[in-house]
Order: sequence, then C-alpha cells, then structure tokens
Amino acid sequence: VSSTSFEILGRDGAGRLGRFKTKHGVVQTPTLLPVINPNLNFIPPSEMRKFGAEMLITNSYIIWKRHREQALAEGVHKLIGWDGPLMTDSGTFQMYMYGSVEVQPQEIVAFERDIGVDVGTILDIFSTPDRTHDQARTDLQETLVRARASAQIKGDMALACTVQGGIYPDLRAECAKAYQGMGADFYPIGGVVPIMEQQRYATLVDVIVAAKQNLDPSKPVHLFGAGHPLVFPLAALLGCDFFDSAAYAKYAKDGRMIFPDGTWRLEEITESWCACPVCSKHTPAELKKLPAQERELRLAEHNLWVTFAELKHVREAMRQGTLWELAERRCRAHPTLAEAFKRIVAHSEWIETQEPLSKGSAFFHLSPESSHRPEVRRYRERLLSRFDPKGRDFLLLPEVNKPYSMSYAPLLDRLARLPVVPAVQSAFGPVPLVLDEMYPLAQSDVPATLDKETREDLEAYLGTIETAKGVRVRADLTLEEAERLLTPLETPIDWDLERVRAVADYQFGEGAGDALLAGKVEIQKSRNTGKIRQVFVDGERVLALRAEDGFFVPQAAGAKRLHAAIPAPRLRVVVEQDSVAFNREGKNVFAKFVRSADPALRARDEVLVVDENDTLVAVGQLLLTPHEMGWFKTGMAVSVREGIKG
Ligand code: GUN
Ligand code: ZN
Repeated sequence: VSSTSFEILGRDGAGRLGRFKTKHGVVQTPTLLPVINPNLNFIPPSEMRKFGAEMLITNSYIIWKRHREQALAEGVHKLIGWDGPLMTDSGTFQMYMYGSVEVQPQEIVAFERDIGVDVGTILDIFSTPDRTHDQARTDLQETLVRARASAQIKGDMALACTVQGGIYPDLRAECAKAYQGMGADFYPIGGVVPIMEQQRYATLVDVIVAAKQNLDPSKPVHLFGAGHPLVFPLAALLGCDFFDSAAYAKYAKDGRMIFPDGTWRLEEITESWCACPVCSKHTPAELKKLPAQERELRLAEHNLWVTFAELKHVREAMRQGTLWELAERRCRAHPTLAEAFKRIVAHSEWIETQEPLSKGSAFFHLSPESSHRPEVRRYRERLLSRFDPKGRDFLLLPEVNKPYSMSYAPLLDRLARLPVVPAVQSAFGPVPLVLDEMYPLAQSDVPATLDKETREDLEAYLGTIETAKGVRVRADLTLEEAERLLTPLETPIDWDLERVRAVADYQFGEGAGDALLAGKVEIQKSRNTGKIRQVFVDGERVLALRAEDGFFVPQAAGAKRLHAAIPAPRLRVVVEQDSVAFNREGKNVFAKFVRSADPALRARDEVLVVDENDTLVAVGQLLLTPHEMGWFKTGMAVSVREGIKG
C-alpha cells in the first residue's frame, strides 16, 4: 500500500485539476517539480515554495553515489533541506546520457524507499526515438520486468513506473496496459526528452494519448523532463498532471529567459515584458551588467516565476473551462506546436469521452480546428443520434443574435404552422430553435465569417444528416416560400413542449422526452427571462432546468419516469448493496461502491443510481467518467441530489 492518494477536483478536455496527497503534504496539480541537483548549491530547496513549487524532484542515483550513508542516516528530506513532498528519479537519465550506471534496478528502488522518498522511480530503460520497433519492444520488456520486481519491494513509498515504448504508440499502449494492476502509484511518461528537443510535438501528442488511453486513470501522470511552459497547456489538456525540469537552471546557465510563448537570450532583450519580481526590479541592461553567477541566479528565478505563473494559468483555465483556448493560443507560438495542436484535434473522439457535459465559460471558435473540438463533435453526433425530426425537413434560418429563439420570436407563430424543423445555421451545424439554450450553442462566440474548412465541414455534415435521417436540410427555402409550398400543420408546434422533449432527448437519449412528458404537462417559466425553469407532469415536478448550461436536472418523479422508460444499462450507475441504504437517504455515491456505469455517460451528466437488481435508489450528478469509476478507490463518483426510498 502506498501512502499517497490522488483525487480529481475538476476537469477540462482530458485534463484534470487534481489533489495529490503525500505524507509530507498536499500538492495541487497540474504542477511542476523543480529538479534539485544534490551536488550543486544553487537555488536552495527551502526557497522553492515562494515561486509556487509544492513538490520537488531530485536524483537518487547521485545521492546513492555521493551521499549514501548520510542519506540513509538522516533521510533524504533533511539531506536536501526540504520538508515537503519529494520525488526521486533513479539513474535512468544518467544511463541515457552516459551509457551506463553502477546501480542495480532493485537496489536503487530499495534505496529510494530507505531514504524516505515520497515517490520513487524505477530504473526504466530509456528508449530513444531512433530505436526500431523491435529494439523499443525489447527495452520495454526489460522495463516491465524491473517494474514488477520493484513493486514487490516498494514498501509504503509510492512507486513511479515509467511508460516507455519510444516513438511507437502501440508500444506505449502495451506498456501502459501491462502496468494495470501491477501496483504502481504514479505514471511518468518517459523517453520524451529527445522528442521534445527535436520539436516532434505531434509525436509527443500521440505518445501521451496512447499512454493515457491505457493507464489506470486514478493515478497521476507525469511528463518526464518537460519543463518549458510552452508545452504545459497542451500536455495538461491531454491529462498530464505533473511536469519536472531542470530547464529553469539550465537555461539560466546559458543566459536564456523562459516566457510562456518561447525563450529569449537576455542579450536579445531591451525591455522585459515580464512582471515577475526579478524583471520588476532589474532592467535587462542591469541584469546584463551583473556578475555572471548572480545573473545566472536572477535568470533562474525569473524562469521559475514564469514557469509557475503559467501553471497557475493552466489550473485557472481548467476551473473556467478554457484550457482548449489556452492550449490553442500557446500552440500558435511555433509551427511544430501548431502541428501538435492539429494532432490533438485528431484525437478528439477520445477527448470527447473525457470532456464534461458542459463548462463554465463560452466556447470560442478560433480556427478551422475549432469545429473538430470534442464539444462540436458531441453536438453533431447527438443531433444525429438523439434528435428526432419526425420525418420533417430542416428549414435553415439565417444566423441571428443569441438566443436564437428570442430573435426569431416575432416569427414563431408562423414557423409553428410549418411541417419543418426550423433550425439556425451555425458553426456547430443546424441548431433547431428548440435546442438553442443548451451548452455550447448558447454559450459560444463565433466569427461572423467562417473559414473555408469550417464551411466545407458544415456542408458535409448537412449531407450526413440528410442520409442518416432521411430528410432534407433546406437552405434554399425562405419562410415565405415554405409557407406557399407546404401544407400547414393541423396542430401547430407547441414550442415549450417541443423544447422540453428535444433537450431531454439530447441529454438522456431518444425516448426520454416522451417518457418524461406523458400526462398533463405544466411548464413554469421565469418571469424575468421567459425561460423554462420547472416542468410538472400530472401534478408532480419532474424536471428543473440548470440555468447556466440549459440542461435538465431530473427530480425524483422524473428519475422514476426515465428509469421505467429507458432500459438498463442506459443512464445508470450501478452501486453495491452496501451503498444502497445511504444513497436512498440522499448521501453521495463513493467510487469504491460503483459496480458499473453506462459508458455513454459523461462527467456532469445527471444519472440514475440503481442497485444490482436495477432498483432505483437515487438521482444525482456524475463527477467522474464511467471509465474512471472502475478505478478510483477513493472519492465521490455521484453527487446525489435526491435519494429515492423504496
Ligand atoms: N528523465 C527524463 N526522461 C526520463 C525517463 O524516460 N525515465 C526516467 N526514469 N527519468 C527520465
Ligand atoms: Zn521576469
């Protein structure tokens, strides 16, 4: 058993805002571990907190070679002068740099354990990008043998098992899978330093995704040797929780200053645009005049300030749901990163499974890549699979100010009589007027003129709708022409009813709307905004609306209707018997009690909590992904809104 634990507090894309607990303190993630060289007297560990560092990494191999007895006698924390969480690397990097090390794989892990490290790393084999597939596989097999042996002797130290596999995603996946159930507590992605040095960032993306898709999601993931803030947003978006680097010191030694969008030599800079304490106090001219040693120290401090400021930016973007936008902005700094951003978008099918149902901030359409983002992908997919046009053609209406249905209010009575689905032409695809208040449709900013690629994608998507739904998407008809050509409906559309039905289907799946609305419906609206707030059927409240994202919260009566109409496993989180009585009382569902969950659910979905006989026991909001629930042994899985007594 390990003395560390990891909890997910927030999410954005495949990124996680986390809390990592160790015996020496708690760490907020994503974060960076500054590398401490036990042989150098540079920025002392005790000063690292002021920059924002909460955990450090040092090298157990160097300590083993040079300070062995002292470390064993007094412990590694005392040795380096830091009482907070501490990770050590193992000598793998020295093996990569110098060809060999003198220590045995189990010897170094036992040493890490005995000197009191919080997270100790195995002596993995570093597969460089030039290794062939066969060579990388042989390397990998040795790494796995070592990991298995190390897990036997780790004691209560958390063990970091490095994902290797060179540039080959299939080997990365194989390695990550092999680690499942092996007893690792922390997963560095290794062998990426030369990939980053060669600026092969698209390869880096593939490697991270292949590892992430196959690792135990309840453990933190570390990107070994990534220290330039340029890669933080992109790697964090893909689910990297930790970074480490000596870059702050190495760059300083070389006279270079790190910025969030690149690196400059002090020599090239006339005015620093950085507001850190160093740059606030010294002009570049003054820094240039300092004695070499002091200048190096000041540059290293600047580098740390900038590094941790960018990590705060990443975490804050996650809290606000804007990490994609931050990653995109940073990736525009260099062509190889722009290519990496395109590659992220190519993985959006996987990212969509990690992406929460809605986020706190507006969706910004910034580039052709925006229309491939998971949020758009999900909307388009659900419009195809969950929206029933009832055999009617879509009538495309020009885009207007949001909310669309408000702008089209003067025409709603006329549109209600037409046998069509009135839908606004948007960058997301056609938006039926009855879906216009949902995330991300209402919560989005899109340029007035769309780029060519986005327009072509949209055109293709309209074709997909026509084929899938067997209806036409008519951009060629005006309202007046439609009125002239089409036979009016006998019963005009009831917009409120249609809206409730369509949103419920979008959110819970086809058939949900009909199940929820069967009976005598009464819809309560806000006096101020005119928006739907609650839905009563046969005198019972079945739904309330989440104003911030336009989705429904099913009440107990609504949950019972969904449960009766929608077959298992859909919408369900199945809990063990031990949990049932608590959940019926309205207490939250903890991850360790979850048996299974509908894989189509997403974080922040409203879900039905059932026992193993499919008896409904509660309704609540999902906090993890269905996949994660199988792995987390601690923390909350469903925030229960209402318990349902038998
Ligand atoms: N430091 C940078 N890359 C690596 C790696 O692949 N393995 C280990 N153990 N340390 C590293
Ligand atoms: Zn600065």
